[in-house]
Amino acid sequence: MKTRILMVCLGNICRSPLAESILSSKLPKKDFIVDSAGTGHWHVGKQPDPRSIAVADKNGLDITYQKGRQITKNDFLQFDLIYTMDLSVHKEVLEMAPDEASKEKVILILNELFPGENMDIPDPYYGQQNGFETVFRMLDQTCDVIAERLLKNNK
Ligand code: 4NP
Repeated sequence: MKTRILMVCLGNICRSPLAESILSSKLPKKDFIVDSAGTGHWHVGKQPDPRSIAVADKNGLDITYQKGRQITKNDFLQFDLIYTMDLSVHKEVLEMAPDEASKEKVILILNELFPGENMDIPDPYYGQQNGFETVFRMLDQTCDVIAERLLKNNK
């Protein structure tokens, strides 16, 4: 069975589409499915933000095919791991979780790189392009740690 990982931010147009593509690029498709969603509904059906598309492209990743969607209760059953981009999203996702087993799947993504620090991937939406470059670098580093462990456990 494939391991399924969901990346969650607020709008599903800036951070989580990047997180989806970055982690996916580090894992074999035959063993892993990586998807993303937002807690908010505003960008359902929309392409990622052009600034996320640009930073992804600069780093050799195409995210133009992605479409915004909102997290649902069913996601807690469908996915094995649910990574949240910041503490506010994290709290919202935990509140949605239908049971204890679902709550245990929810991890603040930067805690993989900086355990126990509870750091946010900053929301870049109201900023400039350089905010997206920073987000990309942070996600790339934490996804290296995630991928390394998933690949080790998958052996
Ligand atoms: P994201 O960024 O959560 O990283 O996708 C945002 C995108 C849109 C909004 C907020 C954050 N918004 O308020 O529309």
